[in-house]
Amino acid sequence: MNPNEKTTILVTCSPGLVEYLRGEVEALGYTVTATGNVDVELQGDLYDAMRLNLYLRTAYNVLYLLRSFPCDTPDELYRKVRQMSWEEMISPDEYVSVVTRVDTPTIDNTMFAGLRVKDGIVDRILKKTDSRPNSGKERDNVVIQLYWRGKTCKLYLNTSGQKISDRSYRKVMTEAPLRESLAAAIIMATGYDGTQPLVCPMCGSGTLPIEAALMATHRVPALLRSNFGFMHTKFYDEAAWQAMRTEALKQSKKRGGKTEFTPAPIIATDIDSWAVEAAKRNAQTAGVEHLIQFAKCDFAETEIPEGGGIIVMNPEYGMRMGEIKQLEETYSRIGDFFKQKCSGYTGYVFTGNMDLAKKVGLRTSRRMVFFNGGIECRLLKYELYAGTRKNKPDD
Ligand SMILES: C[S@@+](CC[C@H](N)C(=O)[O-])C[C@H]1O[C@@H](n2cnc3c(N)ncnc32)[C@H](O)[C@@H]1O
Repeated sequence: MNPNEKTTILVTCSPGLVEYLRGEVEALGYTVTATGNVDVELQGDLYDAMRLNLYLRTAYNVLYLLRSFPCDTPDELYRKVRQMSWEEMISPDEYVSVVTRVDTPTIDNTMFAGLRVKDGIVDRILKKTDSRPNSGKERDNVVIQLYWRGKTCKLYLNTSGQKISDRSYRKVMTEAPLRESLAAAIIMATGYDGTQPLVCPMCGSGTLPIEAALMATHRVPALLRSNFGFMHTKFYDEAAWQAMRTEALKQSKKRGGKTEFTPAPIIATDIDSWAVEAAKRNAQTAGVEHLIQFAKCDFAETEIPEGGGIIVMNPEYGMRMGEIKQLEETYSRIGDFFKQKCSGYTGYVFTGNMDLAKKVGLRTSRRMVFFNGGIECRLLKYELYAGTRKNKPDD
């Protein structure tokens, strides 16, 4: 095991985000060698994996391939895992957790496969050092990931540990927040680059405006996080990590060579005063509070800067019947608001309920598919020209 060795790096994401993830990985200068439904592959060493953890906005985990081998049975898995020199990577004082994805006829018990991997690692370290690491479910330390498909096993070091979509700025939660990686992808899908006003009524805990402010000022997303899986291995090069962070901090302060770039107004409002307070506090933790104008109001009262821009709304899409009636009215009012107050803007509605979406009553120019907590959702795009008319609900 050698951290300077180039190997396969598998970066995972949630369904629907892979094209955004691919774009991000390529923008960082890497060549994507394969793309799956929820992952992209590239070649790199452990330092590349560290860099990806720092910079990627739409990813879940960065997995560094340790070994790939043919395998037929759980006993063979144990033997082969035990042959690997884990003592070079994991101290007996560490805590190890094993995550497994199994798709092979040989075994239908995913937990058992994970147990065999854990036993192989722990027994090997015990034999070599007379001491054994603890193990369990916590993902805050060393995380080893097994993918067993057909007759092939792949063992990865999960260099992220906890998902990097958790950026650590959301200290205060409201109901139904978007995951940060999804919010980042939604902002990317709008084509927002910080030069045009961005209006986020119904901001909830502030994920959309905060992600937008981070992107507009090129703030590197994982700078707030202090714990990553790779830090718990013997390979951890703290000096290199600090140098990467310093470089990232410089980039966060500059933008396109210009210092102190101030984005066009970002406006975040919500009818719930607690949500506005939560969004403010989260923005403060993320270091972007000064870039966002907050207000408590009904969405229809949101101040819309003149001259056009982008407006993104994530209304509730309620699953209970009682809520639906009320939400039908809200969606219909969103259509009126777009038509009456937002001409010259591009409007977006993110929702998981297409029946409610019809109540907006405006023609969509694009519908992009995303998934939120397992629910298929759409980001609906509306071109709001002066004179946009509210038609019969479109299909
Ligand atoms: C699904 S949540 C938004 C979640 C947000 N994207 C996040 O990541 O936290 C919908 C939000 O719309 C707000 N809301 C509902 N009706 C509203 C109205 N008439 N005007 C303004 N905000 C409203 C709710 O208070 C709630 O915070």
